[in-house]
Amino acid sequence: MPAPSQSGLNIPETARDGAGIILEQLKSPTSDDIAAITTLWIATGLIPAIRDARQDIENCVNSAHGSLIIARHPQNHQIIATMMTGHDNFHGWIHYLAIAPDIQNSGLGRELVTLAEDILRAIGLSEIRVTIENATAGDFYAKLGYDLIDGAPTQPTPVCRQNTIMRKSLDQ
Ligand SMILES: CC(C)(COP(=O)(O)OP(=O)(O)OC[C@H]1O[C@@H](n2cnc3c(N)ncnc32)[C@H](O)[C@@H]1OP(=O)(O)O)[C@@H](O)C(=O)NCCC(=O)NCCS
Repeated sequence: MPAPSQSGLNIPETARDGAGIILEQLKSPTSDDIAAITTLWIATGLIPAIRDARQDIENCVNSAHGSLIIARHPQNHQIIATMMTGHDNFHGWIHYLAIAPDIQNSGLGRELVTLAEDILRAIGLSEIRVTIENATAGDFYAKLGYDLIDGAPTQPTPVCRQNTIMRKSLDQ
C-alpha cells in the first residue's frame, strides 16, 4: 500500500450534490459556524448541552490530516450536516457525522460517508474506521458495509455499544 499523502486531503472546497445541497470543506469557521455546529451536535446527541465544540472544530481544521466537511441548506445556507474525516497514516476515520434531525433518512448520511471513503481511498488508505457514538449509529454503518472491529459479522444486525469501533475495507 502506498503511504498516504502527507499534504492533507484532496477535497473540493465547495460542491453541490444532486439535491442542490452545498457540500463544503470548512477551513476557517466563523463564530456563527461554530455556534451552528455546536447546536447541531447537541440536537443529534453527539455532545452534551453543556459542551463547547470549538476546541474539537479548531483541532480538526488545523490538522494536516483531517478535514471538517459540512452541508449547507440550498437556500438559506444554514449548516445541516457535518462530518470530520482524516487519517492517522494507517487508517482513515470519520468523526462527528451529524445530520439535522428534520432531514435524516433522506440519504445525506450515506452521501457523506461515501465522500469520506472516496477521499481516503484516493490518498492510498485501505481501511476506514469509525467510533460508534450511540447505539443506533451502528445499524446505519452496518447498512453501509461496516463490520465491528472484532470481526463480528454485520448480519443480521450487530450489537453495537457506544464507543465500539467499526471498519470497512476501502480496497475495490
Ligand atoms: C446516523 C445518521 C448519521 C444517519 O444519516 P441519515 O442521513 O439519516 O441516513 P441515510 O438517509 O443516509 O440512510 C442510509 C441508510 O441507512 C439507514 N439508516 C439510517 N439511520 C439508521 C439507523 N439509525 N438505524 C438503522 N438504519 C439506519 C437508512 O434507512 C438507509 O437505508 P436504505 O438505503 O436501505 O434505505 C443520522 O441519523 C444522524 O445524524 N444521527 C444522529 C447522530 C449520530 O448518531 N451520528 C453517528 C455518530 S457515530
